[in-house]
Amino acid sequence: MAEKLVLAYSGGLDTSVAIRWLQEKYNVDVITLTADLGNLDDMDEIKQRALDTKAIAAEVRDGRDEFLKDFVWPALQANALYQGVYPLATALGRPLIAKMLVEVARLHGATMVAHGCTGKGNDQVRLDVGIASLAPDLKVLAPAREWGMTRDEEIAYAQKNDISVFNANKQFSTDENLWGRSIEAGPLENPWSEPPEEAYLWTKAVADTPDASEYTEIDFDQGLPIAIDGTKLDPIQIVNLISERAGNHGIGRIDHIEDRLVGIKSREVYEAPAAAVLIPAHQALEAMTLTREQLRFKEHVSRDYADLTYNGLWYSSHRNDLQAYIKSTQTHVSGTVRVKLYKAKATVVGVRSPNALYQHDLATYGDGDLFDQSASPGFIHLWGLPNRVQAQIQGNSDQS
Ligand code: ARG
Repeated sequence: MAEKLVLAYSGGLDTSVAIRWLQEKYNVDVITLTADLGNLDDMDEIKQRALDTKAIAAEVRDGRDEFLKDFVWPALQANALYQGVYPLATALGRPLIAKMLVEVARLHGATMVAHGCTGKGNDQVRLDVGIASLAPDLKVLAPAREWGMTRDEEIAYAQKNDISVFNANKQFSTDENLWGRSIEAGPLENPWSEPPEEAYLWTKAVADTPDASEYTEIDFDQGLPIAIDGTKLDPIQIVNLISERAGNHGIGRIDHIEDRLVGIKSREVYEAPAAAVLIPAHQALEAMTLTREQLRFKEHVSRDYADLTYNGLWYSSHRNDLQAYIKSTQTHVSGTVRVKLYKAKATVVGVRSPNALYQHDLATYGDGDLFDQSASPGFIHLWGLPNRVQAQIQGNSDQS
């Protein structure tokens, strides 16, 4: 009996070719796994395509809720942005796909798993390392990394083997889930040229956005969004609703030069309208409810957290440790944030929280001021004491 292999299957050309290639080269029975993380494709159609390509079984798993609760929400509490801009949609999806591959491999008694990543990107690292962390006994194959076929050769291989060629001449390489859309390749490889409008599917061009602003009120409980405009919603509804509203105002386009783990600089374009609203809203509520020391230290943790997520180390004790710290910071991060959506920009215009450390009677310049200004000179005297002593003994430190 042939050994079994579970292949992460998107339904595209690469992974369809991979089904047949793995059968031929490794003489294995292929089971496909398609993870629905909010990717827009028709899952039934993908399943049928896998079976038509002679997979012995085709599993489709709805991972949307798990994706948001176990991957995106923790990253939101961390305000995780790789290189300060990328909300990590693709990077957060991979560890869940790795987990599902392992689950399906166990279910079918497979000894191998495979994915369609090439050898140039981050996704291969995330999947290989993710699987190794969860199931070190499973062998991982990456056919596209091995076969060295060009796109035209893949198409020829598909035609020869009666594999339906689907989406073969699309301009861009894309990856989608609820948290965002990653767009690469084609015309984007020239960093001097502006991304063509067709690159974007979820966000309007500014010229097409409404001339009236729109306000959205987001309720957070312990750092997680739970309601929009006063209506309690589940995570999928929240992300979809915000994504749709923000996208309509052209919010959430990202275009930057990114440093991949394998050392390549690449031009990456993203649409992440929900993240472009939720992360700043969450940060604004943190500014209101955390101390300056918490905010400062958390910023550092957040950068490490984003890096390790990007670099494929989601399943690591370091991530668990950082997560524990982040979770602890969120205890009082509850309240409501009001965001104005207008012309490609999400602006936080109001924050309120029962746990706010902002106290009007301390901050006000008006009536009811409780701040004791007479305490300031003594405080400043001691604060400046080391400088005063140093100036007296060593001369002043003015180097200008
Ligand atoms: N640069 C992004 C990342 O590393 C996007 C990768 C997109 N992946 C893809 N298979 N098209 O997370």
